[in-house]
Amino acid sequence: MERRVSAASRLRGTIAPPGDKSISHRAAIFGAIADGLSVVDGFLPGEDCFSTTLCLEAMGVGFEKHSSEDGAFQVKVHGVGRRGLRESADVLDAGNSGTTMRLLAGLLAGQSFFSVLSGDKSLRSRPMGRVLMPLREMGATVLGRDGDQLAPFAIRGGNLTGIDYALPVASAQLKSAIILASLFANSPTTLAEPGPARDHTELMLRSMGATIKAANGKILIQPLQNELEPLRTRVPGDMSSACFWLVAAVCHPNAEIRLVGVGMNPTRRGALDVLLQMGADVEVLEERTQGGEPVADLVARTSSLHGVEIGGDLIPRAIDEIPALALAGVFADGDTIIHDASELRVKESDRILTTCTELRRLGASVDEALDGMTIHGGHELSGATVSSSGDHRLAMTLAVAGLLARGETRVENAESVEISYPGFWSDLEQLCAGW
Ligand code: S3P
Repeated sequence: MERRVSAASRLRGTIAPPGDKSISHRAAIFGAIADGLSVVDGFLPGEDCFSTTLCLEAMGVGFEKHSSEDGAFQVKVHGVGRRGLRESADVLDAGNSGTTMRLLAGLLAGQSFFSVLSGDKSLRSRPMGRVLMPLREMGATVLGRDGDQLAPFAIRGGNLTGIDYALPVASAQLKSAIILASLFANSPTTLAEPGPARDHTELMLRSMGATIKAANGKILIQPLQNELEPLRTRVPGDMSSACFWLVAAVCHPNAEIRLVGVGMNPTRRGALDVLLQMGADVEVLEERTQGGEPVADLVARTSSLHGVEIGGDLIPRAIDEIPALALAGVFADGDTIIHDASELRVKESDRILTTCTELRRLGASVDEALDGMTIHGGHELSGATVSSSGDHRLAMTLAVAGLLARGETRVENAESVEISYPGFWSDLEQLCAGW
């Protein structure tokens, strides 16, 4: 599907970004192995999260999905307890979702039955060895394509032993897979993290009664002694989705956008920190706690930006927002230099390549590097035909670029927004029509 986006004369309005994707996946998975009914308000009704619920349904978990009174999406999870999952009769299909595949791999390593996990073309090309290797070290039997590096892969788990493991990358999916397996092991596990990957797994499982201690980049996980308590939570708005409107507002010459209920977990607010460093006019209001996570309302306005360097610990804290931040770099004075971000090469697309290629089609001046890119700011964008390469975050970055470019931009493969932000196009139209 192609979407046409015209230059916006002004951007105004209030948006409640959809529920956080990472937290929604986790609520489905942790709720599934809890003892009793979990009620999750604000669950993200995106394709990725439905990949997770479908896989869990195939293992005997019941889900009820409907819109709640306030219009937010609600999911009820009929948890089967820590020993209640059943072998699926078919291959588990994770679709486009790395979080589904990697977190379920960890969960399945703890189950004594046989499972096969696969996904779409993009997911079948993404690295899985990083997850499968430590699970095998814990005692799971694992076999996968390309020397156990790629999906489809098969797992027969159970009888796990805890490990001491230094994560080779700052990846929350890898960390979460090992944490899930560790809950089912017969001895504790310790993990060392190389950087601040998102910590929703630790926060949520702890709130459900698991013993997980984290300090100074080390995590200690005790095997489950009791059943997990069900969740009753409201998922915060997704910073990764909010970021598109933050960038739209601060780069547009006539804009004011209010974003309500955005998750502000320190491991997730790197993009906001970068934009503030660039000189963005973003106010953080009504800071509060929701479902054990900090949230706030954000008001972003037309700004005068300057280039910055984005690297080191900022990268894992802003990993999904880098394409949008690169777009902000186009509208900044001077260069924006992104480095230490080679993980972007193994996302839903090679996001270093796709971001550089598509922004260039619109007139941006960008130099690609192995682990990032340099954006030479101050170049005007002109509408062109661009492609998301089937990557949801690229589709939304390019749509926002279309609002900021002269003339009309055609975004090919625009349907991929359904992965993480089903209401994206209607929110875009609302902001363009707003007064
Ligand atoms: C996620 C972790 C990140 C992120 C992804 C969601 C998660 O991936 O890019 O969109 O929910 O744990 P990595 O763990 O591969 O960095």
